[in-house]
Amino acid sequence: MNILMIGSGGREHALIKKLLESPKLERLYTAPGNGGISCDSICVNIPVTDKAAMVEFAKGHNIDLAFVAPDDPLADGMVDAFNEAGIRAFGPDAKAAVIEASKVFSKNLMKKYNIPTAEYEVFSTPESAVEYIENKNEFPIVIKADGLALGKGVIIAKNLAEAKAAVKSIMEDKKFGNSGNNIVVEEFLTGPEVSVLSFTDGKTVKPMVSSKDHKRAYDNDEGLNTGGMGTISPNPYYTDELAEECMKTIFEPTIKAMASEGRPFKGCLYFGLMMTPKGPKVIEYNARFGDPEAQVVLPRLKTDLIDIINAVIDEKLDEIDIEWSDEASACVIMASGGYPESYKKGIEIKGLDEKGNTDGATVYHAGTVLKDGKFYTNGGRVLGVTATAPTLDEALAKAYAAVSKINFENAHYRHDIGRTK
Ligand code: AMP
Ligand code: GLY
Repeated sequence: MNILMIGSGGREHALIKKLLESPKLERLYTAPGNGGISCDSICVNIPVTDKAAMVEFAKGHNIDLAFVAPDDPLADGMVDAFNEAGIRAFGPDAKAAVIEASKVFSKNLMKKYNIPTAEYEVFSTPESAVEYIENKNEFPIVIKADGLALGKGVIIAKNLAEAKAAVKSIMEDKKFGNSGNNIVVEEFLTGPEVSVLSFTDGKTVKPMVSSKDHKRAYDNDEGLNTGGMGTISPNPYYTDELAEECMKTIFEPTIKAMASEGRPFKGCLYFGLMMTPKGPKVIEYNARFGDPEAQVVLPRLKTDLIDIINAVIDEKLDEIDIEWSDEASACVIMASGGYPESYKKGIEIKGLDEKGNTDGATVYHAGTVLKDGKFYTNGGRVLGVTATAPTLDEALAKAYAAVSKINFENAHYRHDIGRTK
């Protein structure tokens, strides 16, 4: 098969390295890709949201399958565009991708189908939101922009002043553009967070092994929320009993709900969960593989990913057995100094070999470019240094040993991946 991967981050690099294990793969292209990805596939310089150019490229290069990995092109109907052109594509269509693209949609879906989630109200004016928050007078309270906001559209307000500032920045200052036309105000939940990615063909859902993301920028969960500073798999808080409960109360009901709404979800559905004292609840859905969850989950996948992709597209997921390794994996993100706020680009990365690897770990590239045989930083999250081992402690030790061999000016990473709630 000739495959076109769409995206340019560490998640895409993890998908690519897994696809390279398949004997069914012939040619692999990535649009637009990055420095490390260019060592593993042929990079094509097409912007990730340019549907017409992607379809044109696929038609001209005998592409058998397009894999749309990031949220923006999914929400914008890139899978629909491939399908209209007669090209097989992995990922939800726009109608189904709305489960991530609109928090108002996903919250209303959960309410309608009794899927456990935080209590909430939706507002379309700042005045009504502030009035509700004042009357409720319970803090912390959680304020969320309706639409996509690079993982930054959620504000946990500790008091009324912070809540008012959050409403103003989202709805009046339009910090996230039109994503903030509506907001969700919801109850603050507590408990360990668990990420569960799943394969689904719209009828059957097969959860992958669990993982845990570390979203804050600094050690001890301090600093701003980021796209994710590191992950481990499995998630130590996710017991077999909880997995069984989530299957019954969350995973299967969500797949059925989307089908009932005429929006069958085909692709990877990501369940962001919180294990609250009142049981597991949904914090959010993502319509795609998580980044950096993919970097720890995919290395544990033993079944041919191309077979799973085909089963999802052909709605035959019930016919395939998906096998996972019992080992643990850990990913430490090396980020640019300043991330998730402003940071410099173009800094040389030392400690990688000519293919972007280092001994003892797998290095998934996120924000890198390759010029004249050298790698340079080109984004906030730069590398995802990942290792797999029989125990989590060993996986972490291997990942951190590899991190210590890589350096670039002002690099920052967390030292406590796998150690905090
Ligand atoms: P999201 O972008 O929806 O994943 O939210 C980002 C982070 O905000 C989550 O990973 C949680 O840590 C936190 N969060 C979101 N909603 C809530 C909630 N209702 N209660 C407590 N924390 C939340
Ligand atoms: N790591 C969380 C996400 O991909 O949204």
